[in-house]
Formats: sequence, structure tokens, C-alpha cells
Amino acid sequence: MAISGLGSHSISLFFYVIFATFLHKAQGQNLVTNNVSVVEGETAIISCRVKNNDDSVIQLLNPNRQTIYFRDVRPLKDSRFQLVNFSDNELLVSLSNVSLSDEGRYVCQLYTDPPQEAYADITVLVPPGNPILESREEIVSEGNETEITCTAMGSKPASTIKWIKGDQPLQGEATVEELYDRMFTVTSRLRLTVSKEDDGVAVICIIDHPAVKDFQAQKYLEVQYKPEVQIVVEFPEGLTREGENLELTCKAKGKPQPHQINWLKVDDDFPSHAVITGSDLFIENLNKSYNGTYRCVASNLVGEAYDDYILYVYDVLTTTPPPTTTTINAFQDSRADGAPQKIDHAVIGGIVAVVVFAMLCLLIVLGRYFARHKGTYFTHEAKGADDAADADTAIINAEGGHNNSDDKKEYYI
Ligand SMILES: *[C@@H]1O[C@H](CO)[C@@H](O)[C@H](O)[C@H]1NC(C)=O
Ligand SMILES: *[C@@H]1O[C@H](CO)[C@@H](O)[C@H](O)[C@H]1NC(C)=O
Ligand SMILES: *[C@@H]1O[C@H](CO)[C@@H](O)[C@H](O)[C@H]1NC(C)=O
Ligand SMILES: *[C@@H]1O[C@H](CO)[C@@H](O)[C@H](O)[C@H]1NC(C)=O
Ligand SMILES: *[C@@H]1O[C@H](CO)[C@@H](O)[C@H](O)[C@H]1NC(C)=O
Ligand SMILES: *[C@@H]1O[C@H](CO)[C@@H](O)[C@H](O)[C@H]1NC(C)=O
Repeated sequence: MAISGLGSHSISLFFYVIFATFLHKAQGQNLVTNNVSVVEGETAIISCRVKNNDDSVIQLLNPNRQTIYFRDVRPLKDSRFQLVNFSDNELLVSLSNVSLSDEGRYVCQLYTDPPQEAYADITVLVPPGNPILESREEIVSEGNETEITCTAMGSKPASTIKWIKGDQPLQGEATVEELYDRMFTVTSRLRLTVSKEDDGVAVICIIDHPAVKDFQAQKYLEVQYKPEVQIVVEFPEGLTREGENLELTCKAKGKPQPHQINWLKVDDDFPSHAVITGSDLFIENLNKSYNGTYRCVASNLVGEAYDDYILYVYDVLTTTPPPTTTTINAFQDSRADGAPQKIDHAVIGGIVAVVVFAMLCLLIVLGRYFARHKGTYFTHEAKGADDAADADTAIINAEGGHNNSDDKKEYYI
């Protein structure tokens, strides 16, 4: 027992030494493969590539470690596996009509010492069925909430569902249900409160799944809304004057189209001879007693709405022509002529004022100059006359003599 135990130990040690000596060589080779995602029913390509192969054998094993290909020979009796390419550096195998059971970790093996392995994970994608869009109500009233659901049946992996209303993304609430073996059905529930602007707008459910592209379903919202009412004055174009006729039209738009349009006068009786035909109101020979608020009310099964027209009957148009526009024009013309004249006057006045001002200034300056000259002369006579030879020297001495030295410097520079 002890001997055989020791024997097996020494054998494994022996192999370890052998492996270690080949390790350097094995590192020089580089086995590469890659993971594969394939849609169910389609073909997967599995590749085993070797850089710097020294004639070592390449082998491909399935997830149960059965040999699919040994070099270019296929021991496995599954004709869905086919050799695409074989060389010293590459073993390229295709697997057609992929099913969920083909999923798993495939092994590329290189018969070096020790053998090298690389793993290729095959992931089988199952696209979802056509999206199913259902709405709780066919027609919704404005301001009401509605609910739309979108279902992506049986996909692997689970689909993601996105919503768009018009061109605006919306957030739904998703529930994911696992059917069996990583197959999922996803349902997204979108709740939205509709306005009348949503009528006719498409709500789109977009399925996001790696096995499908542009997979979506859409539905147009149908929104009912209460009427929008607007009164339009057909006649007259200008002021409503006594004795003239008045014609109003009531425009009402709603969904469904308002079944009833009524005219009434607010807090008052309708003029007895007013005529209503359909949505039109016609009053002949206006009278000041007709003053007041006229209302058009339209309703459908969603609600009721109205618009008001306030009638204010003006006095009869008198024959005296009040040509307000012509007077305004005349006034503007006179202003247009008068403006340059005013400018001329202003310019002349300004020049005269400047000239007068300049002359005044000149007079003042001259006056001050003479007065000062006289003054200095007298002071010089008083202070500088003692040590001066003559009157002129006395003046010069007086100007420079009793000023301080700073002023002198300035003078000489
Ligand atoms: C293959 O996918 C597995 C995870 O499934 C990852 O760990 C591995 O790094 C991937 N291999 C390659 C070559 O991308
Ligand atoms: C097969 O291998 C050759 C040489 O290695 C290469 O030129 C060719 O493109 C390969 N074919 C495919 C389908 O990969
Ligand atoms: C593909 O595989 C399925 C079973 O997984 C089989 O029913 C079907 O007939 C196969 N199709 C082809 C074209 O071989
Ligand atoms: C306006 O109506 C009053 C009675 O409501 C009537 O006396 C008057 O003559 C009318 N005026 C005109 C201009 O028709
Ligand atoms: C939807 O609007 C209608 C009015 O058109 C109202 O009678 C009904 O109660 C509303 N439904 C909900 C669920 O708010
Ligand atoms: C109607 O409006 C006119 C102004 O054009 C006013 O003089 C008159 O008193 C108003 N009549 C009534 C009944 O309000």
C-alpha cells in the first residue's frame, strides 16, 4: 500500500517534470477562440485558431466533452456540424439549425504538453413573437387615464419594451415571466392621461432584443373631447350701429361633433325678431336695447362649452364727415415743413449767442488785463523802486525779485 502510494506520487511528479519542460514550448503557442451568439435555427461558426502551431493536433469538443472534430475528422454523428476550414493554424466548424439544446461551453483543445484549452460559449437567442398591443379602451375621453399593454412572447433572453407617443419616449411598467428554460414573456403596461392633442397620435411599442430589429407595434389614440366654440362676426365688418344688421356664426368643433348648438342672451331675453338658422344668429335693424352678451353653447357627450359675444350698439352714423385722418395728415405736413425752419432759427440764434458770449469774454479778459497791469506797475514802483537804477529795471526786479525760487525755475525753463 505504502509502496504503491509512493509509486503513484512519484509518477505524477515525473509527469509534472515532463510538463514543466514542455511548458516553455507550450507558451509559444496561443490558442484562441471566441464566444458565439446565434439565433435559434440559424448557423453558428466555431473557430479554434493557433498562433505559431508546431503541428500539434487541434480538437473541438462539445459541452459534454465529446469530440466533434479531431483535426478534419468528425467522430460525432451529427451532420449539422460541418468543416468550414482546416489548416495547421485553424479549425473552423459550422453548426447549422441551432437549437436551445446546443447551448453551452465548447472546447478547443491543442495537443501540446500539457494540452491547452480555450472555451467558446455558444448562446442561442430566441426572438420573441410579434408584439401584441392591447388597449383597455378603444376611445378615451380627454383628461381620462387609459392603459395600453404590449406583450413580447417567448424570447431568450427577455425582451426590453420601450414606448413612444408621437416622438416622445414614455415609461411603461414591465413584468417578466419565465416560461421554461430561460424563455421569457415580457409584458409592459403603459398608463397615460390623454388630452385632446393626443387624438390621432400613434403610440408605439418597441421590442428591444438582440435577435430582432425594428420590431414594433403601434396604435393610434382615439380621444374624445368637448367642443371648442368660437363666435365669428360675419356682418358688419366695422362698428355695430343702430339700424344695421348683425350676423354671427358659431363655430363648434369637438369629438364627437357637437349634436346641439344653442344661442342665448345672458341675463336677458332674446330680441324677438332675431333669427337662428343652424349655428347662425341674425338680427335685423339693431337697436340700443339689444345691447348685451350673446352666448353660443355647444355640447357633446363629453361636455359643454360656450363663447360670448358682447353687443354694443353705437349711434347711427351721422352724415357730417369727420375727416380725422385728413386733419392728422395736415398736421403732419405742417410739422414736416416747420421742422427745417425751426432748425434754421435755432442755428442762427445759437451762432448769435456764441458770438455775443465770445465778445463778452474778450471784453472781460481785456478789462482784467489792463486793470492788473496797472496794479502791478504801482506795486513795483512801491517795492522795487529803492534798489533799481531806472523805472524799467524796477518793474523787472519786482516781477522776479520777490517771487520764490520755484517760480524762478519754472520761468527759466
Ligand atoms: C465568453 O463569455 C464568458 C461568459 O459567458 C466570458 O467569461 C468569457 O471571457 C468570454 N470569452 C471571450 C473570448 O469573449
Ligand atoms: C480558410 O483558410 C484560408 C487559409 O488559412 C483562408 O485564406 C480562408 O479565408 C479561410 N476561409 C474561411 C471561410 O475562413
Ligand atoms: C431544425 O431542428 C429542428 C429540431 O430542433 C427540426 O425540427 C427541424 O426539422 C430542423 N430543420 C432543418 C432544416 O433541419
Ligand atoms: C328701439 O327699440 C325701442 C323699443 O324697445 C323703440 O322704442 C325704438 O324706436 C327703437 N329704435 C330704433 C332706432 O328702432
Ligand atoms: C372618463 O370620462 C367620462 C366622461 O367622458 C367619465 O364619465 C368617466 O367616468 C371617466 N372615466 C374614468 C375612468 O375616469
Ligand atoms: C347700449 O349702448 C349704447 C352705447 O352705444 C348706450 O348709449 C345705451 O344706453 C345702451 N343701452 C342699453 C339698454 O344698455
